Amino acid sequence: MRCLTTAIKHVLAVAGLFCFMMLLACCGNRVAGTFTSGEIWKDNNGVHINAHGGGILTLSDTYYWFGEHKTEGRSGNSAQVGVHCYSSQDLYQWKDEGIALSVVADDTTHSITKGCILERPKVIYNKKNNQYVMWFHLEPKGEGYSGAMSGIAISDRPTGPYTFVKAIRPNAGYWPINVLETHKSGIFPQESQRFSGGDLPAHPDTLNLLGRDMPGGQMARDMNLFVDDDGTAYHIYASEENSTLHISQLDEDYTGCSGKYARFFVNRFMEAPTMFKKDGNYYLIMSGCTGWAPNAGRSAVAPSVWGPWEELENPFKGEDSDLSFHSQSTYVLPVPGTTHRFIYMGDRWTPENAIDGRYIWLPLRIEGKQPVIEWLPEWSYETTE
Ligand code: DGJ
Repeated sequence: MRCLTTAIKHVLAVAGLFCFMMLLACCGNRVAGTFTSGEIWKDNNGVHINAHGGGILTLSDTYYWFGEHKTEGRSGNSAQVGVHCYSSQDLYQWKDEGIALSVVADDTTHSITKGCILERPKVIYNKKNNQYVMWFHLEPKGEGYSGAMSGIAISDRPTGPYTFVKAIRPNAGYWPINVLETHKSGIFPQESQRFSGGDLPAHPDTLNLLGRDMPGGQMARDMNLFVDDDGTAYHIYASEENSTLHISQLDEDYTGCSGKYARFFVNRFMEAPTMFKKDGNYYLIMSGCTGWAPNAGRSAVAPSVWGPWEELENPFKGEDSDLSFHSQSTYVLPVPGTTHRFIYMGDRWTPENAIDGRYIWLPLRIEGKQPVIEWLPEWSYETTE
């Protein structure tokens, strides 16, 4: 009898060890239930998650992570596949839901033809018409970053497939609510005159980049979406040759611009904007503008989406804070079940082998009015304040 009990114990111990090993295999170098920034993060198939520049759609008890599907090598920075979607109930274990939006392989004239640049996809849910709406930064194939467009796609299921709707330059024909008289009356360079990001020969207002692009629509590169408590949705994008951030209200379908928008942080070259809200205040986490290389983070607070926006300190604190812990912001998510603690989500880009990019997810708290992000090699939101 004792022999039988020992055998059963032995079998149970081996089974337990096997389960633990399986868990490790599934979750890369981490035990399920922790975030290990910068490590390989394996999905349910044991494959490193491929959702860069991503964002989270939260639907009752499920999180959907959408991001750029990168491929190997430097060419993998352009869109060879599309937007990848994963789902999770706890933010630690992710199920591969496949490609939510595919690039078009058989039509080189299509806006999202294979090889275009398709970055920072974000999905929001429109309860008015039960539709899932995806926006992303789109650059037509072969034109570098000069297109500065926004792409829009829709689906009636969160995981897709999404149908491409259109590519636009936002707010064509509209002046922002905080336009200067000099924009309206001033001269401005020709549409063909382009400047490279971070290298403007003069202040963007002197150049009147806003006026230059008013008829055809404003430039829109790094972007994010934000849905307020009242269901109003906003598109936040780096505009005017990256020099100035625009915040733009979407129309009721979330598939276009309402024409109401404003300019902020003029000449600050903010990239990678991500907006969130706490206690009625709006916050932005952003970066500077240095290509794929990391730089010091930026933060700002405002009592309204329309400002006034007060720029705060670099939210990253401690060693390597001047490089945002080698990351660039992509999304900020409230900790499950709370409204006062947040998860900072950033990308650690590896442009020479795009598919190897890593994820930097860290606790974000608000001290006074200042967002603060500190490095933790391994943490869980259940046990970290
Ligand atoms: C920084 C942006 O944040 C990225 O999304 C990407 O556009 C790179 N620049 C390209 O250099």
